[in-house]
Amino acid sequence: MILSDKIDIYESTEIFNEKKYENIFLVDILRASTTGVLLYNKGIKKICFEDDLRMAIKKAKELNALLLGEINGKKPRVFDLGNSPFEISRVKIIKDRAVHFTTNGTPLFKKFTGNDHTYLASFLNIGNVIEKINGNTAFILAGTNGKPAYEDRFFAGYVLTLFPKCYWGHGALPSARLYERFKYAPEYFFCLTKNGKNLVNIGKFYDIKFALQKNICPILPNV
Ligand code: MLT
Repeated sequence: MILSDKIDIYESTEIFNEKKYENIFLVDILRASTTGVLLYNKGIKKICFEDDLRMAIKKAKELNALLLGEINGKKPRVFDLGNSPFEISRVKIIKDRAVHFTTNGTPLFKKFTGNDHTYLASFLNIGNVIEKINGNTAFILAGTNGKPAYEDRFFAGYVLTLFPKCYWGHGALPSARLYERFKYAPEYFFCLTKNGKNLVNIGKFYDIKFALQKNICPILPNV
């Protein structure tokens, strides 16, 4: 049994105090953290996370980097790739740097860029996330436009259930309860969430299936 002192779950950074934690994990299951983990696993050496579209375009040009991401779930015309992990899994990545711009995930990741002990978490690298949990740990969920993203909560709930003996602290119970409720039908559940419905509507159902795969990327990237 792996023991940890405490796991806290945050859905905003407003009251978050990073000094309290040994490890911090950033989560946007549909789809920014899933895509980030996949890109690193495919050989990208550095991702610049951006919260501003113009800056993202400018930076990608300056760095000769792959420009990827989404607006309303879709690839902006001038981007090289969208934010679809399923599609990214099928293309060859030649460049070694990327600029990633999304609505909720990358603004959160940008805030923590350069911090030690702050990592991207997803089902794709869940084994590496679990191995790293030790001491006081925080998960920060990107959410959707300031509201909870239930697939992020589901992920956090799954992690909590793997640590039944540690103290489930701030924000843990809603995630744990949600996971218990839908643990036997994650794909069905993901299709019901706001983000999931949007993805199904724009023809990206395969991203839901893809994002639920466990341990296909055995890495733990820093943001
Ligand atoms: C986001 O950062 O808001 C998401 O990852 C959105 C998406 O990929 O559709």
